[in-house]
Amino acid sequence: MTQQTLNVDLGDRSYPIFVGKDLFLSSMLAPYIRGNQVLIVSNSTVAPLYMDALRAALPDIQIDEVILPDGEEYKNLTYLNAVYDELLTKKHNRTTTLIALGGGVVGDMTGYAAASYQRGVNFIQVPTTLLSQVDSSVGGKTGVNHPLGKNMIGAFHQPQVVLASVDALETLPDRELSAGLAEVVKYGFIYDEAFLCWLEENMADLVARDSGKLSQAIYRSCEIKAEVVAQDEREGGIRAILNLGHTFGHAIEANQGYGNWLHGEAVAAGTMMAADLSCRLGWLTRDDVKRVESVLLAANLPVRPPQDMSAADFIELMSVDKKVLDGQLRLVLLKGLGEAVVTEEFSADLLQETLTADSYC
Ligand code: NAD
Ligand code: GLY
Repeated sequence: MTQQTLNVDLGDRSYPIFVGKDLFLSSMLAPYIRGNQVLIVSNSTVAPLYMDALRAALPDIQIDEVILPDGEEYKNLTYLNAVYDELLTKKHNRTTTLIALGGGVVGDMTGYAAASYQRGVNFIQVPTTLLSQVDSSVGGKTGVNHPLGKNMIGAFHQPQVVLASVDALETLPDRELSAGLAEVVKYGFIYDEAFLCWLEENMADLVARDSGKLSQAIYRSCEIKAEVVAQDEREGGIRAILNLGHTFGHAIEANQGYGNWLHGEAVAAGTMMAADLSCRLGWLTRDDVKRVESVLLAANLPVRPPQDMSAADFIELMSVDKKVLDGQLRLVLLKGLGEAVVTEEFSADLLQETLTADSYC
């Protein structure tokens, strides 16, 4: 077992992230379970792969399970109720610990169940997709979708610990690995040009699932996310830069039907649109935009929005984004590679150019 640890520094809500190989074989979670009850929430794809290993690593206490159907389309209040039903049926009390075993869908749903059950109980993230290991399991955003908007029902609720075991990625479909890489390269674009250069050099190894390189990418991604979240836990300011490409991306996901475009795929196309608008504003050069496109393509990600989506579709769906303030759309744009801003400093005409352009800036 090889492992690295980093800390999310949030005062009395601080917690460690363990990144490494074979972590399911360890008993590292035991110190983070406070009471004598655990509910593991997983889904019908991940549970058969990893539930037994996780259970074997836990202390000999009451352990219950909820297995949700697999898919973004089940990330809603109806299916969340299955978690509350199990908690109440099996008489879980306020010292229970919920463990999310799965990708971002399971993690967000379990986190929200933990935030709301008896006004808040402990929870642990055991992310099993690259996307959830580098992004959704860290930082305490939890929630479910509403038919009128993604992640619109939710709460901030930090986990006790995050266990990111890179060997879990061996069973991940290629398309899901690429979707996770969209969030990894995001950290380079918004925060760290040197990391972006490393990703450009190592993308082929990451796509080929070199576990050492994947561990490095996961560790640096979590380190950046932890730094940003520690400065702005509840997204009053800088945390919003983590949403590069997401305003466009959420519009794509909602328009195409949740689950048809993967979240990371939609973010990749959205990141290209944000880079394009940044270039039209004179903040990125054409070479910068080419670099954004090349690294996304090397990760096997889409770089164009769906052909059947109009500018009007985007504008309508983007107007419910959580970054809209007083009716004003704000976007995460790039001032350079490695530097992001949250801004409303773009004209409707320039945005329209990005939404209707046949080719990028
Ligand atoms: P996901 O949870 O749907 O997982 C993707 C697919 O991979 C699913 O079919 C899942 O069953 C399968 N899977 C998971 N682990 C596997 C494994 N080890 N082997 C084989 N198959 C496996 O999707 P995701 O990309 O992990 O997460 C996307 C979700 O995360 C979205 O709902 C998004 O809104 C949310 N999200 C939340 C945050 C946050 O800060 N809370 C950040 C980013 C994304
Ligand atoms: N994924 C964006 C955030 O956690 O803030």
